Amino acid sequence: MDPLVEAAIRALDNACAPYSGFRVGAALEDAQGRIWTGCNIENATLGLTLCAERVALCKALSEGARRFRRLAVVAASPVLTPPCGACRQLLWEYAGDLEIVLADGVRATESLRLRDLLPRAFDASHLRR
Ligand code: THU
Repeated sequence: MDPLVEAAIRALDNACAPYSGFRVGAALEDAQGRIWTGCNIENATLGLTLCAERVALCKALSEGARRFRRLAVVAASPVLTPPCGACRQLLWEYAGDLEIVLADGVRATESLRLRDLLPRAFDASHLRR
């Protein structure tokens, strides 16, 4: 199995999802081949929930990683789970046109490009006009 998917599966084990019961793991590979993982972290306000993808991205950014290649997302669900809209925006701004690997941890995988998940994205280039 793809080591990036394996890392996302391991991260899923740490999910803090007592409210939804929907556990997600993500693994982000940077340009040096380092892997940054994240899981979803919920809390009683519900609205302050952190998605697995954003946890992985923020861990990487806060340690100085700036260039990224791929992101794997695995959810404890029979249906492949793509990043939510908020994660797509942050990933676009900080990681660019990533390859996104969706996996169910068993058999199915699908590979997508972030530009296809977030067409005509708003980003810093619009603020400079
Ligand atoms: N969630 C993620 O962590 N990533 C996704 O791609 C979709 C949704 C989390 C947020 C929340 O904890 C739970 O899944 C249900 O929405």
